[in-house]
Amino acid sequence: MSITTGELRSKITASTLLEKKQNHELITCLTAYDNASARLVDEAGIDMILVGDSLAMVMLGYENTLPVTVQEMLHHTRAVRRAVRHAFLVVDMPFASYHVGVRDTLRNAAKFIKIGGAEAVKIEGGEKRARLVETLVDAEIPVVGHIGLTPQSLHAMGGYKVQGKTLKAVEQLMHDALALERSGACCVVLEGIPREVAAMITQEVKIPTIGIGAGPNCDGQVLVFHDLLGLSFGPPAKYVRRYADIGSVISDAVRAFNDDVKSGAYPSDAESYHLPKETLAALEVIAERKRTVSV
Ligand code: KIV
Repeated sequence: MSITTGELRSKITASTLLEKKQNHELITCLTAYDNASARLVDEAGIDMILVGDSLAMVMLGYENTLPVTVQEMLHHTRAVRRAVRHAFLVVDMPFASYHVGVRDTLRNAAKFIKIGGAEAVKIEGGEKRARLVETLVDAEIPVVGHIGLTPQSLHAMGGYKVQGKTLKAVEQLMHDALALERSGACCVVLEGIPREVAAMITQEVKIPTIGIGAGPNCDGQVLVFHDLLGLSFGPPAKYVRRYADIGSVISDAVRAFNDDVKSGAYPSDAESYHLPKETLAALEVIAERKRTVSV
């Protein structure tokens, strides 16, 4: 059954994503962290919107994703929720919100669904998270897995390094993907792995694979909104394709505003509010009276 949203496009759900894989239709996913960007992404027809913990870096200026909190993620998720009509809305559970204990994990995940309005939570890790995924799914919380280069494991990995390069690592990635599938994850993000490995996993699992830096043979692709638009700073990763240079557009506009205000060119008379004629005339009479009295 497809749920219509009152407009022509139907609502994307976890089942729609699975159908897309079965029908060999590629899936699109982008991050969004605020209401305006989420609205643009949703209206453009993107299938899946991720309130990624990458917001720690691109929105909040942290050096990595580790410091962002459940409260901060919730704040952004609620803003995004109010904009999204069609896309499947997923939120990242931040570092340490699902690492400490099962009760804590359930409570945090439930907040993202109940207060944030997300339709699924994403957690990083494969085989070792399988029991947790099962518990969340049992609690009616859909889960998106994330394996390969998992940014929350930054210190454990010793940096942001492409994963799955040795035979042993390839084998482990395959175990991870299959364990997530068995545990009930509705799809899995494959990040920073050789395209050949992503292709093998995509072929092997029935759930959709969404790649980022994992080559073209995944069931879908995800990018960080700011990377796609040229709004992030620093050298982009190899897989990033910049579709626009919005950073320069914003810089030019802000510089022009700065110049216009400082030269007096902004605001013009046409950009100003005016008094009604009668009030203006009355003010002139008062001013004239004051002048007469003072003479
Ligand atoms: O946080 C994020 O933006 C992500 C994507 C890179 C998949 O997890």
